[in-house]
Amino acid sequence: MTNPLFQVALADWDTYQGVLCGIRHTVFVVEQLVPIEFEMDATDADPGQVMHVIASDSHGDPIGTARMLLEVPMPRIGRMAVLRSWRGQGVGRALLEFLCDVAKKRGYQQARLNSQTHATPFYYKQGFLSHGSEFFEVGIPHLEMRRDL
Ligand code: COA
Repeated sequence: MTNPLFQVALADWDTYQGVLCGIRHTVFVVEQLVPIEFEMDATDADPGQVMHVIASDSHGDPIGTARMLLEVPMPRIGRMAVLRSWRGQGVGRALLEFLCDVAKKRGYQQARLNSQTHATPFYYKQGFLSHGSEFFEVGIPHLEMRRDL
């Protein structure tokens, strides 16, 4: 799906690390008060284990990001972050659909993610269903969610 206001593309970590970390820092560390040591992990820099996506506005400025860990039997989407001023305009949906499409093309039949409980309505709207019971990660309640691709 194309949108004249923004576009979504794969983002190579070596090239876009600063930009992706900048968005994630703004959303998770500054806004949601996630400790910085939990925001980053070693998988970010390993292209064999993870794919990153970036959303950019019509000027090319970054407005959102997400990543997908290439786990077996299903990939795990995470670090979904849209800058506050861009929320509610379809950027999150576009990031998620882009990653689900990539996963499907790579032969995966399902995708999973751990949603912050407050964000589950967003993922339900994109076809994800909850799986299991609520649990806590970095002090924030989460639910695992899965979707057929
Ligand atoms: N609760 C209920 N509905 C929501 C929602 C929420 N928190 N966030 C989005 N939606 C709905 C939108 O209204 C829209 O509905 P529509 O299809 O009827 O128009 C649909 O979901 C798609 O929303 P979209 O505009 O694509 O979402 P977004 O760009 O605002 O991105 C997040 C959603 C969650 C990624 C974004 O709010 C964000 O970055 N939040 C802070 C970080 C975070 O919590 N990340 C998730 C960690 S699990």
